Amino acid sequence: PNSLKLGLAGLGTVGAGVLRLLDAHAGQIAARAGRPVQVVAVSARDRSKKRDAVIDNYRWVDDPIALAQDPEIDAFVELMGGEEGIPKESVEAALKAGKHVVTANKALLAHHGVALAKLAEENDVALNFEAAVAGGIPIVKVMRESLQGNAISRVYGILNGTCNYILTLMQEEGATFDDALKEAQEKGYAEADPTFDIGGFDTAHKLALLTSLAFGVETAFEDIYVEGIQRIAAADIEAADRLGYRLKLLGVAAATEHGIEQRVHPAMVAKHTPVAETFGAQNCVLIDGDFVEDVMLSGQGAGAGPTASAVMGDIIELARGHIFAPFATKTADLKPYPKAE
Ligand code: NAP
Ligand code: HSE
Repeated sequence: PNSLKLGLAGLGTVGAGVLRLLDAHAGQIAARAGRPVQVVAVSARDRSKKRDAVIDNYRWVDDPIALAQDPEIDAFVELMGGEEGIPKESVEAALKAGKHVVTANKALLAHHGVALAKLAEENDVALNFEAAVAGGIPIVKVMRESLQGNAISRVYGILNGTCNYILTLMQEEGATFDDALKEAQEKGYAEADPTFDIGGFDTAHKLALLTSLAFGVETAFEDIYVEGIQRIAAADIEAADRLGYRLKLLGVAAATEHGIEQRVHPAMVAKHTPVAETFGAQNCVLIDGDFVEDVMLSGQGAGAGPTASAVMGDIIELARGHIFAPFATKTADLKPYPKAE
């Protein structure tokens, strides 16, 4: 059978992880997808950078935008990151050229997701983004497929691995904020600019996508109240501990009588609850639906392996010929309400 041919841009933590996963499991993936999955060309910023040997096997293209429209590819895998510039232009170019897109880029989708989803719909191609929310946890598929029959009243949880790793090391091992952040960066959990993690913005990017999937509304990143973990001190952690709580950075979207409330902030969570027991780079997502009742998913929220797993799931879905509507491109009756100033 014809292989699914991919162009992959971004060869950092996630891109290299995807190539390693494909190298390890190519036979199994072909059997399960019904046809081989093949990367035909790759791109990144600096061709001369020393990389994993697995990456040397692929044709190099200097310009990701040219790769996105390469006549040889069926799908473009965007693993560069960032909401503007080349990542955005390359995804737009791919969709306009009739190529499916798989991306892990929540910043891009939180800001431009509606326009990109419309482009995907117009060109009859997929825009898959499982890896953009909560790393290896298969929450996007659950939200856009399995739970579609429910009226959802709330979706919330721990959505950033870096922050949870920092808070865990500070709380359980007495580490300093700076040392814990440095370790999270070394493990490949943090964004290229870690301000997005510790400032709560990465959680907000993911929450914007979850809100759209849960409530059928357009993403509304600007309406999210955002507070990060930078000001949490050892004394806060000790006080919470004495009272029987752990500090966690939560993202919460809830239906209220005024509309959909969206907020990101640190919260005291009672010990011995599943959210409080989510440690290290793990994330958890909890969904309240009217028929399904309470659902909770947890797992590794960041890192090369878990994120590559999510990206590959999206690629296999494409190879099988499954194309789902990305997420809501119209605002429903119940809208996110603007954050208080
Ligand atoms: P990373 O390690 O910093 O790698 C980024 C890669 O993209 C590098 O190979 C870089 O090229 C390339 N790149 C960046 N900007 C580029 C540009 N303008 N033109 C061409 N190439 C460019 O980042 P990452 O951690 O793999 O993250 C990639 C994406 O996945 C981001 O959207 C991130 O938010 C998302 N994500 C990450 C994780 C995680 O755990 N790390 C989890 C889920 C989602 P060079 O190598 O030449 O510098
Ligand atoms: N920087 C992100 C995090 C990567 O720490 O959760 C996964 O989206």
